[in-house]
Amino acid sequence: MKEKDLMEKVVALAKRRGFVYPGSEIYGGFAGFYDWGPLGTKLKRNIKHAWLRDTVERRDDVVDIDAALIMNPKAWEASGHVGGFSDAMVECKKCHHRFRADQVKNECPDCGGDFGVGRQFNLMFETRVGAAEGSESVAYLRPETAGGIFVNFKNVLNSTRLKLPFGVAQIGKAFRNEINPRDFVFRTREFEQMELEYFVKPDEDEKIFDEWVKRRFAWHESIGLKKVRLREQAKEERAHYSKATTDIEYEFPFGWQEIEGVANRGNFDLSAHAKASGIDLTYFDEEAKERYLPYVIEPSAGVERIALALMCEAYTEEKERVVMKFHPHIAPVTAAVFPLLANKPDLVKLARHIYEALKADHSHLGSFAWDDRGNIGKRYLSQDEIGTPWCITVDFESLEKNDVTVRDRDTTKQERIPIANLKEYFARKLG
Ligand code: GAP
Repeated sequence: MKEKDLMEKVVALAKRRGFVYPGSEIYGGFAGFYDWGPLGTKLKRNIKHAWLRDTVERRDDVVDIDAALIMNPKAWEASGHVGGFSDAMVECKKCHHRFRADQVKNECPDCGGDFGVGRQFNLMFETRVGAAEGSESVAYLRPETAGGIFVNFKNVLNSTRLKLPFGVAQIGKAFRNEINPRDFVFRTREFEQMELEYFVKPDEDEKIFDEWVKRRFAWHESIGLKKVRLREQAKEERAHYSKATTDIEYEFPFGWQEIEGVANRGNFDLSAHAKASGIDLTYFDEEAKERYLPYVIEPSAGVERIALALMCEAYTEEKERVVMKFHPHIAPVTAAVFPLLANKPDLVKLARHIYEALKADHSHLGSFAWDDRGNIGKRYLSQDEIGTPWCITVDFESLEKNDVTVRDRDTTKQERIPIANLKEYFARKLG
């Protein structure tokens, strides 16, 4: 399949089956904004759960917080975003369309016109807070979740018993007024980040940086991404705060692109916030009996980019079906339950009973769906297309033997499993 075709097919499936819709579609859409449908929302939730499990829940050196999305604008001045969070932009003299300077050559891709002199364009969205008019009421939608972590460094330190090295994680929305949103949900103006600020002793930064690069790479593989690679950023590419950055890239149909960056931010942020706020943000090292500003290692991933990578990776066309081969932990629906025939009350009753029992335990096992429309073959194809790893069918034999068929999405093979063993069966399959 051609790469362009793959992208078109993923976009079409995403809309048709309720993963992703164009934002505000009935009003003609809104560039750079998307609405996530029922299955896409589950997909994103599973990505976030997998990240939280690995980054926070399985460790005792990381906590997570939920900071305000709009912060005191002084924080964004201190972090360098008000002054420097910008892209070079050019505008066509003829049609006045604007482009990121690094993404176009000498002429306008829309009309062939010439560009005027370029300028820097700040990517932060401005808003106004309170009833006052004027510049004192200007605030910003956060362009990264990291800011909320740095301003709470002291609060977390004082309200927990954490000692270096330790991390503070956060999942939440971030906003950037991208000049050219593009490639479906890859570059949008509103997106969700999963960020960790891992504070370390200054002389341990390089070792711990390497450990996080390895750990994050392994995590992407663990959720089913195969076409991933590491790429070290050159000095001139790095963000203003970064001492070193390694990107984790995925091979999308439109080329290798970053889905996560792991940065060594040194003590740039704590030092800048301490200076601007006048608050001492040093850490007292009881063993060494000295105070210093910790360094920070930051793995920062985008939920939508990972969701898009997973959709591209999963999309498979076989002879008579389209299958989304999602990893079972990530698939929006873990298993679907069917009565073989919808007009046989005994079959429906037993299937419903199994479905309700599995759903009741869904927090451990995943997410379950019910389907009794059309014939069984169509139901299988419909579940294949959204990537459901297993389909459970209650047939006439089930009424006599108290078992069901479980069909595997990838092999399409069926096996009979006693109803009493189903929970254990899925618990084992899901690991
Ligand atoms: N705190 C560091 C930081 O924000 P970044 O490389 O600018 O670093 C981190 O962003 C991640 O956020 C990216 O790897 C990407 O997954 C996601 N991201 C950034 N800009 C995005 C956009 N416009 N649309 C979708 N995701 C984006």
